[in-house]
Amino acid sequence: MVPSGGRGNGSGRIGTVGVVGLGTMGAGIVEVFAKAGLSVVGVDGTPELAERGKGFLTTSTGKAVARGRLSEQDQKALLDRVTWTASVTDLADVDLVIEAIPERLEFKIDLFSKLDDIVRPDTILASNTSSLSLTTIAAATKHPERVIGMHFFNPAPVLALVEVISTLFTDTKLVREVRDLATRLGKKPVVVGDRAGFVANALLITYLARAIRLYETGSVSREDLDNAMRVGAGFPMGPLTLSDLIGLDVVKEVCDVLYEATKDPSAAPPALLQQMVTAGRLGRKTGQGFYDYGPDADESEQPASSGRALAVSTIGLLGTGEALAQLGETMEAGGLKVVHSVTASAALGEAQIVFVGTDAGCATGECAAGACECDQMGPAQEAISAGLSKIGKNAILAPMDGLAEWAIGTPDEHARVVVPVRLHEPTKGGQVLEIGTGLDSGAREVAAVRTAADRAGLVPVVGRARSGLVVDALLYPHLNDAVAMLDSGYASAQDIDTAMTAGCGYPEGPFTMIDRLGADQVTEGLAVMATTVGGAGPSPLLVEHAVRGRKFLD
Ligand code: 3HC
Repeated sequence: MVPSGGRGNGSGRIGTVGVVGLGTMGAGIVEVFAKAGLSVVGVDGTPELAERGKGFLTTSTGKAVARGRLSEQDQKALLDRVTWTASVTDLADVDLVIEAIPERLEFKIDLFSKLDDIVRPDTILASNTSSLSLTTIAAATKHPERVIGMHFFNPAPVLALVEVISTLFTDTKLVREVRDLATRLGKKPVVVGDRAGFVANALLITYLARAIRLYETGSVSREDLDNAMRVGAGFPMGPLTLSDLIGLDVVKEVCDVLYEATKDPSAAPPALLQQMVTAGRLGRKTGQGFYDYGPDADESEQPASSGRALAVSTIGLLGTGEALAQLGETMEAGGLKVVHSVTASAALGEAQIVFVGTDAGCATGECAAGACECDQMGPAQEAISAGLSKIGKNAILAPMDGLAEWAIGTPDEHARVVVPVRLHEPTKGGQVLEIGTGLDSGAREVAAVRTAADRAGLVPVVGRARSGLVVDALLYPHLNDAVAMLDSGYASAQDIDTAMTAGCGYPEGPFTMIDRLGADQVTEGLAVMATTVGGAGPSPLLVEHAVRGRKFLD
């Protein structure tokens, strides 16, 4: 039990809060509490660091005033609710302390044992640790039952998630009290047990590590990689931009903790990440990470497809399929001439790029039109081969084949350049056309497809022609991890969705995404990737949902 003292039960009794560590997260947490009307004592190691914390809060609230979100009077009242100090002894009378110091277990243990002797016996001791063991921190204190995790997300004033982490020691009444407090702050609490990375970081940081590893292979430029996930998958930021925001040291620390706990190679810190941390390129906070943020920021990297593009004026569409039709409309709207043929047509002879639909049809090409009962739905290989002979010898063949199976497995017998593409559903940021590069695709041909995509107002993403290209190669394993987490009994599908939407700004959570895409599609993608490029196959629970045609959220 929490030792009885002056505060009593109920989050409403928490009126004064101490925040130790006034870096990005700590200063953001101060803002959250002060905005909710609580008194805050902000503590850092030196008067200069405390002053820097005050500066962060003044700047952040100043921006809110400039945007008309906060009146000057309210800003003053908010700032007046906070006192700044370099001494933890000033926390003697607070109701709750939140620690947001660097992620070193020994620092945290040292601080918590100091706090034990300073604060009242009923003061709650919370840690904002992103992945360290709360149990280990709690066990090192005199009253482990009052130790709890309150994990905020960067930027704390904006993102709604607070992971409330309990240990075997934690008083259950305290869990309720802290959950209610988070709600009182306008946040969305998700209560979970003590496990490496909790919910959001375990999923997010593993995904970031995969993305950094993909970037490390040189198969995609940093801008294209970020566009793939921001525009293609609809995430609020690309993985490299997000890593720079979080801090590469923090990303690496969480990778280390996750890998240590799970031995999952996907979570291991990529070599490039380790090198960047050693070199002090930690992202925004040092002015340099995957991108430069200083006044001398460099130009964009050359896209992977750089090269003089072939001129493109006419686009051919061969075969059938919704994506093919949609691409044709978009290209036409972009001012390109579009000719369409279900099987074969001499008109395709003038096209410089022929996009090939592969998702329906038979040798007659009439299945999709419902005029044939041959029951040969599936890749329209025969129809396409019939059409191929009519296409110009120099035309680029661009099969609409997200898994890149067709392009990799079937070299064109007429020795034309094959560039697999995948058109994604539009998202808030636009619509991505992924373009795969293989051994046979020359830089000029890839650049031509890129130029056509640009002209049509699509966002081109060029990456090596591997199963899943870039978007699905990162998205599907991420969704699979969420299913594995559910299967492990750690968190519910609803809580995982809340964690990723409220904590990472996703437009929809992983389970909503799987239900929309179809568990069968994600399962098939993962299975193909596992056999062609490696990686974990679909989680058994995902396969079960695919086979039964069941949704995760009903
Ligand atoms: N502090 C305060 N407010 C901020 C802010 C900051 N650092 N950054 C942005 N904002 C506010 C803006 O003022 C704006 O407010 P308004 O709507 O009232 O005018 C609002 O947020 C939106 O900002 P922008 O229009 O500038 O930009 P976006 O719409 O692109 O949003 C973003 C920016 C909120 C950062 C969004 O891109 C996002 O959610 N990105 C994902 C971030 C993420 O995943 N964070 C979690 C990282 S993991 C973590 O923190 C855990 C740790 O343990 C590692």
